[in-house]
Amino acid sequence: MPKPHSDIGLIGLAVMGQNLALNIADHGFQISVYNRTTEKTTKFVAENPNTPGGLVGTTTPQELVQSLSTPRKIVLLVQAGASTDAVIDSLVPLLAAGDIIIDGGNAKWTDTIRREKALREKGLRFIGSGVSGGETGARFGPALMPGGDADAYKELEPVWNAIAAKVDARTGRPLPGGKPGEPVVGGVPCATYIGPDGAGHYVKMIHNGIEYGDMQMICEAYDLIRGLLGLKAAEIGAVFAEWNQGSLDSYLIEITADILRQKDPVTKRKALVDVVLDTAGQKGTGKWTSVNALDMGVPAPTVAEAVFARCLSAIKEERVAASRILKGPGARKYAGGKKALIQAIHDALYCSKICSYAQGFQLMREAQKEYHWTLNFGSIAQIWRGGCIIRAAFLQKITEAYGRNPRLANLLLDPYFNQTVRKAQANWRKVVALAALHGIPAPTFSSGLSYYDGYRAARLPANLLQAQRDYFGAHTYERVDQPRGKFFHLDWPDPDRPQRDA
Ligand code: 6PG
Repeated sequence: MPKPHSDIGLIGLAVMGQNLALNIADHGFQISVYNRTTEKTTKFVAENPNTPGGLVGTTTPQELVQSLSTPRKIVLLVQAGASTDAVIDSLVPLLAAGDIIIDGGNAKWTDTIRREKALREKGLRFIGSGVSGGETGARFGPALMPGGDADAYKELEPVWNAIAAKVDARTGRPLPGGKPGEPVVGGVPCATYIGPDGAGHYVKMIHNGIEYGDMQMICEAYDLIRGLLGLKAAEIGAVFAEWNQGSLDSYLIEITADILRQKDPVTKRKALVDVVLDTAGQKGTGKWTSVNALDMGVPAPTVAEAVFARCLSAIKEERVAASRILKGPGARKYAGGKKALIQAIHDALYCSKICSYAQGFQLMREAQKEYHWTLNFGSIAQIWRGGCIIRAAFLQKITEAYGRNPRLANLLLDPYFNQTVRKAQANWRKVVALAALHGIPAPTFSSGLSYYDGYRAARLPANLLQAQRDYFGAHTYERVDQPRGKFFHLDWPDPDRPQRDA
């Protein structure tokens, strides 16, 4: 028998919504669901009659609201942007003070800040929660990044903790996922309160930016192995499967190994990956990360390169035409040893990954100043260990690094990462050089290396740049032999070059 009032409600029964609703119901919470198309709701509820908590189908927002215990908690899994605003607007007149709306979509954090403020002014509470892990994560344990009203999160926390992926408290290792109706018990949930207003969605955006970087780096490793050694997809899959046993152990490496070893179900002969068209789509979170990096003046080239690589991939026809005109080194086999080269590419990938995460955490560090949040970087890395797309053993090293020094200026400065890059960098440099010599694009590998060399440079050529700015625009410069903050201007074209204080 359904309870008179459900514990929680959910709006939006697309793939993520359905899976999250089932996950919630599996953990004993009664959940009321609503979708704009009633048939979808009816079918969904009819197909899932025996969940431990129970699903209650509702046909109007009013019915949904009336079916909930107070304070009401309503999770939205609708398209980010205008649709989210429209659903919120339709709910507001139906809700009472203290009720809680939870946006589980990939909302832009600035929208979340705006919505939280607007709803707070109306006496309602708002949580913007990152939900990562795709369809399977939503169903069996996602990583959850909630931000917004802290008291409201206390009300939601039992549900979020129950449905999140779990990791071992000591090692950070993900605990095996449950089957339908058999929830994972024990362990630390991959859910933690991130901070006020848009903090949760901001951290989810950074997760996605990092996801873009990871995916592009893996593609570059694949392309280099293919181009330099001429290995077939399945052979490269075996390399990734081996890498997945070591320091690169991660979900994205694991699925890459799987993808590369699959046969095309149509031709039955070819590798499936070889018949997939080489154009990548994107929905915008990587772009937001890059735009935000530019806005805040934080160097984060890896995500930007990953976004641009997708853009370049998308202009397929133009590339095909250009390939007939623009000349460069053609595909030619690497003359050195295969094993050593594969190890070098592994090292290049690991070093580039370290730089990419260093940049992502730098972004969060700057954003917390900008938005007056206090982010716990160690625990952010920990909740990313299970359930989400970037889950990786490597994240434990980040948690440990922030455990050693919560005020770490850059991950590269942590002893573990510093030593790792020091040992592996000869291979990284070799791979970037080989990529250039063989005409194989490796934008994240090479920009990662430039980031590393730039970050460790006590002196950059910006002295010349600033001189140029002063020459044509009187933008002034500081001197190496004068205190910081003292500015000078020179009338450069004047042969006598009188220097003036600016
Ligand atoms: C996740 C993913 C998820 C989705 C991205 C992909 O954490 O589960 O990040 O949110 O896969 O939206 O974004 P693109 O379509 O831009 O690749």
